[in-house]
Amino acid sequence: MPRKDTLLILLFVLQAASTLAGRKVPESTVLTTDVAIVGGGASGTYAAIRLREDFNTSIVLIEPRPYLGGSVSTYLVPETNTTLEFGVQSYLRYGPALDFFARFGIALRPFASKRLTTVNIDVETGEQLKDYLSPNINATNEAFQRWLAIVSKYKTFLEPGYWNFPLSPDIPSDFLVPFEDFAKRHELEAAVPRILAISGVGYGGVRNPITLHLLQAFGASLTLDMLENQMFVPTGSNSLIYQRAHDFLGPDVLLSSTVKDVKRTSTAMTILVKQRDTEYIIKARRILYSAPPSLRNLSPFQPDEKEAAVFSTWAEDSEFVGIAKISCIPENYSINFIPSVAVPTNYLALKVRKDWPYSIRLDSTGPPGLGLFRIIVGANYTLSLDDVKNLVLEGTKRLEDAGTVTEECGVEFKSSSDHSRPQWKQTAEQLQSGLVQKLYGLQGYRGIWYVGYVWGAPYSSTIWAFTDTVLLKLLDDIKTDKSSSQKA
Ligand SMILES: Cc1cc2nc3c(=O)[nH]c(=O)nc-3n(C[C@H](O)[C@H](O)[C@H](O)COP(=O)(O)OP(=O)(O)OC[C@H]3O[C@@H](n4cnc5c(N)ncnc54)[C@H](O)[C@@H]3O)c2cc1C
Ligand SMILES: *[C@@H]1O[C@H](CO)[C@@H](O)[C@H](O)[C@H]1NC(C)=O
Ligand SMILES: *[C@@H]1O[C@H](CO)[C@@H](O)[C@H](O)[C@H]1NC(C)=O
Ligand SMILES: *[C@@H]1O[C@H](CO)[C@@H](O)[C@H](O)[C@H]1NC(C)=O
Ligand SMILES: *[C@@H]1O[C@H](CO)[C@@H](O)[C@H](O)[C@H]1NC(C)=O
Ligand SMILES: *[C@@H]1O[C@H](CO)[C@@H](O)[C@H](O)[C@H]1NC(C)=O
Repeated sequence: MPRKDTLLILLFVLQAASTLAGRKVPESTVLTTDVAIVGGGASGTYAAIRLREDFNTSIVLIEPRPYLGGSVSTYLVPETNTTLEFGVQSYLRYGPALDFFARFGIALRPFASKRLTTVNIDVETGEQLKDYLSPNINATNEAFQRWLAIVSKYKTFLEPGYWNFPLSPDIPSDFLVPFEDFAKRHELEAAVPRILAISGVGYGGVRNPITLHLLQAFGASLTLDMLENQMFVPTGSNSLIYQRAHDFLGPDVLLSSTVKDVKRTSTAMTILVKQRDTEYIIKARRILYSAPPSLRNLSPFQPDEKEAAVFSTWAEDSEFVGIAKISCIPENYSINFIPSVAVPTNYLALKVRKDWPYSIRLDSTGPPGLGLFRIIVGANYTLSLDDVKNLVLEGTKRLEDAGTVTEECGVEFKSSSDHSRPQWKQTAEQLQSGLVQKLYGLQGYRGIWYVGYVWGAPYSSTIWAFTDTVLLKLLDDIKTDKSSSQKA
């Protein structure tokens, strides 16, 4: 273990000692519960409902934002009183998804993506890359049929989670080869633009990352539902289910709340939570951690060496989505900034140029006449919201300077959401050294169970199915200390 990490852990411990020891409990509100759930996005909200309603287990759900729903971002268009989704778009018919919407009385309809004319723009010059040829529909479908055969073969290792992931030397060699080699060998190139656009995988390029990371990001259920047009959306908005879950859970939800400090043993947690000027001390039997598991997010939980060694291996990519009014781009267009090295059909280079390790797409959203666009910006390094705004302003300025658009490019940002989070980008060597088993070995370790996108196929429906697998183990775990305390 490198010295820097040891020092960090020591600092966490010292910091904890000073905060908890000096605390006068009577000033804080003390809550006692079975499970403290950290993070109220897709997995945390689902777990809260299941534990409290279906398993008679008390919960407190702690969420830093002022609303539940995580990656869902819904924009209310004031002019038309209609909504636009600029985060999560659609859902897979997988696992408990249909039941979960049904229990909140939410009707579903097929997802139809808006038909847009895509224009590929040289990220460097703002000129249209007229010689870039998108793969034709037959080539794309054929490549996806080959992809489907591959992801189907490996489905049991990857969906909904990695409980069955093989140990080295049984890890399929396909998982460990750089994706460029794999894609060429299986003639998958024509599927790459769509894989990148739908899953967001591959900031910094998809040539070098091992194939496993593409299989994780674009698995069998997603491939099948996409090919068969089976994706669905709730009527109303994607936020509705989270609003209803919040109304239902009532005072068991602490919004705008952050975990400041945690004292843990394997059966008793003392969690200091701050909500504006109010402090809570939550005494829980277990923690269910559903937020992105970066070392930074986990620091109040005092990770030990074993935990820190695993949670320090993620790539810290960033991803922002937003809504802006952009005056220079015509309606029904999608502007895709790509590096010129992708010309004419070099799809594996779409996100790969050294000096442009970020990507930008601007998709017209409607309603007609308002000039609204969904912004998607991602990079393989840390971006701030200001950086993102500047990238969009620079990008649209280049369109104007190159004469690609004729109108002046006024950009008015309406709403945005930061979805930056750690990503799987570990090396073949790390996988071979048992990384997945070490990660899964942390389930239940020192009182914390984990759910969320990082633990399996990263889509709401697969995440909900995975959450069910963890809840059963968590409940068993709690039962064990109930029965041992009865014996004592
Ligand atoms: C832009 C975008 C579009 C997507 N589109 C789709 C889609 O169309 N369909 C689909 O199925 N999936 C989509 N996904 C995948 C999406 O990640 C999953 O569907 C799902 O939302 C992930 O669930 P989660 O519980 O892991 O994380 P989230 O739903 O993101 O929830 C994590 C929660 O943890 C909270 N949190 C963050 N930091 C902390 C902290 N330090 N302490 C406590 N809480 C914290 C967050 O505020 C958030 O509420 C998309 C993801 C993104 C980023
Ligand atoms: C639910 O749990 C409470 C507290 O543990 C217990 O008193 C009650 O009997 C349980 N109810 C059911 C239906 O299991
Ligand atoms: C906006 O739409 C919502 C939901 O459809 C509706 O309940 C509300 O009355 C509408 N508001 C106005 C001002 O029309
Ligand atoms: C795609 O395939 C269909 C039938 O397989 C064929 O009729 C059509 O011409 C092909 N289109 C292209 C663009 O190759
Ligand atoms: C980001 O991507 C670029 C382009 O592929 C690459 O040169 C760079 O090393 C990557 N940086 C990180 C931190 O992965
Ligand atoms: C964009 O598409 C919608 C329907 O798909 C259509 O009603 C509208 O007129 C189009 N806008 C323009 C400017 O062509």
